[in-house]
Amino acid sequence: MIILNLITIMQFFLSIEYSYSFRRFKHTQFNYYKALDSVSFRSAANLPSYDIYVAGESITILIPTSVVDLSDIFNWKVVNLKKDRLMFVHKNKPQILINRTTIRPMKLKPGTNPLTGPIIVFSDNEALHVPTIINPNLTEPFPKWNYIELLYFDDEDEEVSVIRSLPMLANDDWKFIKEWKMMDYIHFDDKLYLLIKRSIWNEKTASVTQEISIIRLCLDKGSELISSAIEIRYNRPEFQNNQITQAIFICLSYYIPEKIFLLITHKTLNQTLIHKRYFFNDFVSLFDKTGKEYASGANNYTLMRYHLRSEVRSCQNTTFKSCSSNENIVPSVELNFTQIWDYHFIFADGMSDLTGLEYAYDHTQNETHFCHQRIGYGYKQICIEIDKNFNQDDSIQNVEVFFFGYPFYWLYLSYNNVRLNESRRCGQYKYSGLPCYKNDEKSKDDIQLHYYFNHRPFGFFHVTKDTNRAFRTLLDHCVDYVSCNYCMMYGQNMDCIWSNSRCEIRKDQNVTQTVNYCFKITSISPLMFNSSSPETLTIELDKPLELKVPKDYYVIKAGPHNHCTNIKPNHNGLIFNCSMRLSESGKFKISVSLQNDRYADAISMSALSAEKVDIVAPEVEHEYSSIIILLFLGSLLISFLLIVYSRYKKQQFKKRSTYYSYKNKRKFSNSKKQREYFETTSAITRVKAQILPSKMNTTNETTIETRPSSKPWTSVSSSYYTR
Ligand SMILES: *[C@@H]1O[C@H](CO)[C@@H](O)[C@H](O)[C@H]1NC(C)=O
Ligand SMILES: *[C@@H]1O[C@H](CO)[C@@H](O)[C@H](O)[C@H]1NC(C)=O
Ligand SMILES: *[C@@H]1O[C@H](CO)[C@@H](O)[C@H](O)[C@H]1NC(C)=O
Ligand SMILES: *[C@@H]1O[C@H](CO)[C@@H](O)[C@H](O)[C@H]1NC(C)=O
Ligand SMILES: *[C@@H]1O[C@H](CO)[C@@H](O)[C@H](O)[C@H]1NC(C)=O
Ligand SMILES: *[C@@H]1O[C@H](CO)[C@@H](O)[C@H](O)[C@H]1NC(C)=O
Ligand SMILES: *[C@@H]1O[C@H](CO)[C@@H](O)[C@H](O)[C@H]1NC(C)=O
Ligand SMILES: *[C@@H]1O[C@H](CO)[C@@H](O)[C@H](O)[C@H]1NC(C)=O
Ligand SMILES: *[C@@H]1O[C@H](CO)[C@@H](O)[C@H](O)[C@H]1NC(C)=O
Ligand SMILES: *[C@@H]1O[C@H](CO)[C@@H](O)[C@H](O)[C@H]1NC(C)=O
Ligand SMILES: *[C@@H]1O[C@H](CO)[C@@H](O)[C@H](O)[C@H]1NC(C)=O
Repeated sequence: MIILNLITIMQFFLSIEYSYSFRRFKHTQFNYYKALDSVSFRSAANLPSYDIYVAGESITILIPTSVVDLSDIFNWKVVNLKKDRLMFVHKNKPQILINRTTIRPMKLKPGTNPLTGPIIVFSDNEALHVPTIINPNLTEPFPKWNYIELLYFDDEDEEVSVIRSLPMLANDDWKFIKEWKMMDYIHFDDKLYLLIKRSIWNEKTASVTQEISIIRLCLDKGSELISSAIEIRYNRPEFQNNQITQAIFICLSYYIPEKIFLLITHKTLNQTLIHKRYFFNDFVSLFDKTGKEYASGANNYTLMRYHLRSEVRSCQNTTFKSCSSNENIVPSVELNFTQIWDYHFIFADGMSDLTGLEYAYDHTQNETHFCHQRIGYGYKQICIEIDKNFNQDDSIQNVEVFFFGYPFYWLYLSYNNVRLNESRRCGQYKYSGLPCYKNDEKSKDDIQLHYYFNHRPFGFFHVTKDTNRAFRTLLDHCVDYVSCNYCMMYGQNMDCIWSNSRCEIRKDQNVTQTVNYCFKITSISPLMFNSSSPETLTIELDKPLELKVPKDYYVIKAGPHNHCTNIKPNHNGLIFNCSMRLSESGKFKISVSLQNDRYADAISMSALSAEKVDIVAPEVEHEYSSIIILLFLGSLLISFLLIVYSRYKKQQFKKRSTYYSYKNKRKFSNSKKQREYFETTSAITRVKAQILPSKMNTTNETTIETRPSSKPWTSVSSSYYTR
């Protein structure tokens, strides 16, 4: 009986494990807001060695240029990290690279439409595809499109299938949609925001509306993320008169919370380009607000797919929960931007000082000079002699922006032109201006209009369209880390090391110590803990340990299981008090570490005490009789759980969509007892996560090995590749 129950309960645990179909993943510091490219150079030397990045993780792989050209591989959107069966999408074609030697096309499972738009890759072979729909003549498409779809890439069957989608509302949606196109996206803090431009035909008013929509999806819903969609949309007079050629998110990470706005490029009827910035008031809150108002039945809220067909429907009066599953209901509301300002991409020859992207400015302009002055700021007027006025240039060009989290708080803006010598690279640090530099290089004819970001070594590069050449700029950013802890915690992934009181590129050291490297424990007291002694542990460090980065936190432990909570540093960060929780007896060293779980590539720095504390944890009775009683109670509990389990199984079939969520546990647990049960399982998972050693939280005496770098670093260098 007990054995049977145990087997059942094991199955129950397994079914919970499987139900969260994709891992929650973390992004790296440099890809935290957007993972533009999957592939980058791994080494500074001339080798076809690449870093492949997928959803917060990366691998290094060697792929000969005889298998794939540089011009192609950097445009791969890679879906998985299996070296011998690497799946990717290139030019909208899903393909698989087998054994690093053979590239084969992948099949589309029947009922799956060919890819037409960009994909955003998650973990576990899943990727979101936002089809590009161009239907100017309102003709019936074949096959029927989806507005958004979640794809599964099967590396064994070499097949792509749709596992979730937001389909047409009715079979004749094609009568209303002239264009649907994702222009950009950002993701952070478990949310994904899609920026969509669309043109819809309104039969009643016989007019076309070009509008901007932002759809928020909750990444913590796993495969059910489409069902958490909420939309806000914007309709401006200038969207109707002009053609929107580009729309991107600008995300300034040095504001808390992040300042987010749009930069939209319009082409006017006389072919002039106009760049405008569109601001929101508290961007992140707009979506939950929309969901709430929609659920309260306010009549100015509707559903996205009714809006696309210009159908007026009042919404249901329901209860709203952030990121809840709504099947294919997408609450939608039209909002106004809080502010709209122009921006001028007018450059001097050499360096141009432009106003910071988030500020308003006054400007004057004549044939030869462009002058601007930040409003409400004590600075004098800045005038530049116009070398290039891209607001009156119809050559092919685009603007790309890269945003970095701690510690850079940088924004890299690249103004790309088909004529490389007319392109500009700009960078904005914190609350300053936007200096832009002219590219010194000779013009290259067939350059791709995209500036690729290279993670390690840190830098940027351009690739030619078909001559297999790359032009790289490597930058030394280690110097930006001004303390040992942050140099090591955040700079590891860029081969930085703290030595001689500064952060520099690691040259020949192949071993980095993370314990007792930046700070040490000089004393601990008391040295004995038991249930009758006071629980406060006092630790003294040799150097101050302060929390300076958002989401940094301390962990103090004695051995793996005895956590010290309620950590209080004194004013100078040298002395810490905390409350010792006794759960495992023995003699343990005390470890103090600084961690940050926000970024996938940040490691933990720690110190280990020389002395050991003696811990006597409250004893659990081990008498035979109590074991019998425990077994009896256990089998009662198990029988109860069995009933819960079978009920849960039934519900699982009824409501498949609800149990993917972490937050919506309550949805499938009706009684209080059931709820407690689920909370117990999640507590187990949490403890397990803390026990398991990982690269992210190294509290044991360990070292992290990296390969020796093969080439000395040059702080700024350009290199040139050819096959
Ligand atoms: C890939 O390698 C495996 C084992 O090394 C081999 O069995 C398989 O045939 C190879 N496939 C191709 C397409 O070369
Ligand atoms: C739309 O119709 C026009 C003329 O009626 C035709 O020239 C054009 O190719 C059509 N466009 C598409 C995408 O079918
Ligand atoms: C083009 O049109 C815009 C308004 O749409 C106007 O401000 C600008 O002066 C015009 N440029 C030229 C060269 O005519
Ligand atoms: C929605 O429900 C709430 C409470 O149940 C009620 O106060 C409100 O009037 C309802 N709104 C509409 C539009 O029915
Ligand atoms: C929707 O209407 C309600 C009142 O009916 C109003 O309070 C709210 O501001 C409106 N929201 C928007 C976005 O227009
Ligand atoms: C947006 O602004 C326009 C014009 O100022 C106004 O008529 C409209 O009601 C506003 N819409 C919202 C949703 O606030
Ligand atoms: C244009 O403006 C600049 C700066 O105000 C001034 O120095 C220059 O003389 C002006 N040029 C013409 C042609 O007016
Ligand atoms: C850029 O290069 C082209 C030739 O490719 C040349 O004609 C042009 O003058 C150059 N522009 C500048 C600003 O150097
Ligand atoms: C570090 O590299 C040196 C030489 O490059 C080598 O002799 C040494 O064994 C390496 N250490 C480790 C721990 O790999
Ligand atoms: C508990 O610890 C105190 C010192 O903190 C010690 O005096 C006492 O003997 C210990 N008790 C036991 C049962 O070990
Ligand atoms: C730490 O604890 C010690 C002894 O319990 C106490 O004297 C001291 O004030 C505490 N310091 C802080 C910062 O709480």
